Amino acid sequence: MKIVVTGGLGFIGSHTVVELQNEGFEVVAIDNLSNSSESVLDGIFNITGKKPIFEKMDLRDKKAVQDFFNKHNDVSGVIHFAASKAVGESVENPLLYYENNINSLVYLLQELKELPNANFIFSSSCTVYGQAENMPITENAPVQQAMSPYGNTKQIGEEIITDVAKVTAINSILLRYFNPIGAHPSNEIGELPLGVPQNLVPFITQTAVGLREKLSVFGNDYPTPDGTAVRDYIHVVDLAKAHVVAMQRLLNKKNLNKVETFNLGTGTGSSVLEVIKAFEKVSEKKLNYQIVSRREGDITEAYANTDKANNILGWKAQSTLEECLASAWKWEQKIRS
Ligand code: WQD
Repeated sequence: MKIVVTGGLGFIGSHTVVELQNEGFEVVAIDNLSNSSESVLDGIFNITGKKPIFEKMDLRDKKAVQDFFNKHNDVSGVIHFAASKAVGESVENPLLYYENNINSLVYLLQELKELPNANFIFSSSCTVYGQAENMPITENAPVQQAMSPYGNTKQIGEEIITDVAKVTAINSILLRYFNPIGAHPSNEIGELPLGVPQNLVPFITQTAVGLREKLSVFGNDYPTPDGTAVRDYIHVVDLAKAHVVAMQRLLNKKNLNKVETFNLGTGTGSSVLEVIKAFEKVSEKKLNYQIVSRREGDITEAYANTDKANNILGWKAQSTLEECLASAWKWEQKIRS
């Protein structure tokens, strides 16, 4: 069966291509290489012995999307990662985010609705919850006013998919990620952040490898045990496996509704200082960091209630925080060697 992975050479996309190939799927990876490189195909090949079909393409090009699905008219499902995802950048450049993240989705869905088997997995985010009232966060927690255009594009994306499901044969699963980190245990693929990393873990590993002078910890005055913000850090391979399970659910018509939503997290919250401590343990290096003021738009805490993913989807994250950080550190050392 042929599965299309948009953003297939990206961080989560490439790890999902590997897991799909491991399950015997034929994969077509679409990527515009704006935040990835074609060399990722070699990493995938080194892991699975297969290269996915690769189509360099920008999903904002409506004609290109139409031509793609005319050529690949035997697609069984689409997993849609391709999007801009930097929260800060989205505040500076909202139109880039609305054009890229919304137009791409609309053009994809316009083609999907013509397919006999329209199975669609959407890369969403716990960002849609804003600062949720109760922890751990369930899928019924209310979607709150987005704190950034990036978060808003995820909310709008979910609404578009829900509206389209009502009048088409498209079956969808919305996967709300918590904080994806780590790298494939083979050390063949991992995160390749361009420029100064926005996210905590790549900034930590780049500091430890000497690329950054020190880590700034954004605030230690949050109402949390050690004052630093709490997140649910999930291994990217666990996340990738959840996408295969979700696609198989749709292919086997096990879905209970046209649109289903699952939180993908570990169910455990870790503070920034706990992440630093765990990293220092696995790397056996002292991390140079300083506490600075809070980052605009950050929430205090977010970690997932994983009951629905565990019991309905039949998936559970396996890796511990230390295993995640060890894989991220191993990868950082490799790409800087
Ligand atoms: C984690 C914690 C920071 C960097 C965002 C998006 C989310 C998803 C993951 C795309 C926070 C602190 C960070 C640093 C720090 N992205 N931090 N120093 O903000 O939880 O989530 O990225 O899907 O949608 O919202 O992740 O890694 O940026 O921050 O202290 O240099 O680390 O304040 O508490 P975040 P993050």
